[in-house]
Amino acid sequence: MIIAVDGPVAAGKGTLARRIAAHYGLQYLDTGLLYRAVGLKLLQSGKDPSSATAAVEAAAGISDISLDDPALRNEETGNAASIVAANQEVRNALLRFQRDVAKRPPGAVLDGRDIGTVVCPDADVKLFVTAAADIRAQRRYEELVAKGETVDYAAVLADLHRRDDRDSNRGVAPLKKADDAYLLDTSKLDIEAALDAACRIIDGRR
Ligand code: DC
Repeated sequence: MIIAVDGPVAAGKGTLARRIAAHYGLQYLDTGLLYRAVGLKLLQSGKDPSSATAAVEAAAGISDISLDDPALRNEETGNAASIVAANQEVRNALLRFQRDVAKRPPGAVLDGRDIGTVVCPDADVKLFVTAAADIRAQRRYEELVAKGETVDYAAVLADLHRRDDRDSNRGVAPLKKADDAYLLDTSKLDIEAALDAACRIIDGRR
């Protein structure tokens, strides 16, 4: 079984996808981490994330890059990831890795931006998880504060709008709901309620 979970930044799709995977005994892949790993590799080697040659080279070595580095989760890495993700060759280099995970038994839950549209267009269930921008910014703000970072809510909101804009308007594999995806708005749902809603959709499709 393959479950695609797509949506904008800070919609709660990562936590939800991980919980869905645990619930159904499936593997879980956070595909954003792959783009983040490419972005971080460039930052750490002093290269510009918008350099296509360097980004493609980093993406080609994805199976040797660690996906455990805590620096993958910071805001600077997220921005670099969003830049490298607009490059078609980078996306191609990461595609096989994602499809290999998806087709390994017993199946997987993949979360990202283009899982239902490009990576796994034949996924058994597709969820498009979203929430209002101010709610997503508030969640991201609280996450960063909990990590001990000094942040400003207005800056987090502005950054989120920039990321949404870049992810949705890029020419290649833009963030968009697949026609056959279920829309799940988590603005008013906590994680347990969101999991409940997702399981009802998935069970209904099985
Ligand atoms: O979900 P995230 O914030 O970790 O993703 C980081 C960036 O990677 C995001 O700005 C867009 C990009 N991304 C993508 O283009 N396609 C995916 N399947 C996953 C992430």
